[in-house]
Amino acid sequence: MSAIQIFAFADERAPASRLAAALNAPLVMIETHRFPDGETLPHIPPPAAEISALYCSLDHPNPKLVELLLAADALRRAGCRRLILVAPYLCYMRQDAVFSPGEPLSRDVIASLIGRAFDAVVTVQAHLHRTGDLEALLGVPAMNLIPIEPLAAALPAYDTPPIVLGPDLESRGWVEAWVERLHGQPVVLRKTRYGDRDVRETAEANPVEATGRAVVIVDDIASSGVTLTKAVQRLRRAGAASIDIAVAHAMTTPGVTDALMKAGVRRFVSTDSVRHSTNAAPLAPLLAQAVRTIGQFL
Ligand code: R5P
Repeated sequence: MSAIQIFAFADERAPASRLAAALNAPLVMIETHRFPDGETLPHIPPPAAEISALYCSLDHPNPKLVELLLAADALRRAGCRRLILVAPYLCYMRQDAVFSPGEPLSRDVIASLIGRAFDAVVTVQAHLHRTGDLEALLGVPAMNLIPIEPLAAALPAYDTPPIVLGPDLESRGWVEAWVERLHGQPVVLRKTRYGDRDVRETAEANPVEATGRAVVIVDDIASSGVTLTKAVQRLRRAGAASIDIAVAHAMTTPGVTDALMKAGVRRFVSTDSVRHSTNAAPLAPLLAQAVRTIGQFL
């Protein structure tokens, strides 16, 4: 009996294989039947290891969450007693407050569902700006990995320390961690979001002295890409010599990614938490180490 087995759905065979290889563990694919009405039925071979780790990054969150919870139930019914969720991207973490009356606190609803289904969770750069405590949120042992090393390795080498720019106040902690790694100069912009694709920053409140400087924009998530686009425009106006982007989770459409490159971005890198054309920083070594560590506590 092996110590650990990795389970994954077909659409994530590639990153799950990389994790399985890093752990030297078998990978078991989950077959999913789709009924005519759209419901799905995962079928899971019986677990044959002391620990089962289900790899499921939660981009496209609504369909994936349902399949994840069904698969976790099937694993339990098949006798799994130690079940780890490996979700490099953890969804619904950005609705971490009731911003206007009538809204749910989505973060807590989803965290509670996941915490009840799994014994431990490994994720990457979760949006934890209003809580530092992922374990308290989920109610189970959890690790939130910060992928600066793999991302830094994918960036060009800088002759002199670059400006490390965070596009909003929430990126301040991430900027500080990057500054330590690159020995760069921190700059944090201020932005206000008025809608999904309406983000504004006040130039007067955001002085950026970037003439002739190399700049790397760092953020946890690129979703619509509007936040990055505004920051790139700002840096172009400020005369930056080069602009690179490093994000943990890239979800921009190909059109938006191309537009960023055309706007003068030299290198745009992301981890492979979500499949994207900018993926350049494999997470498997970090994830494998975390799964080994957290597995010892189960
Ligand atoms: C916000 O708090 C996040 O850190 C990102 O800046 C934001 O989610 C990016 O979203 P978008 O790409 O849609 O502007």
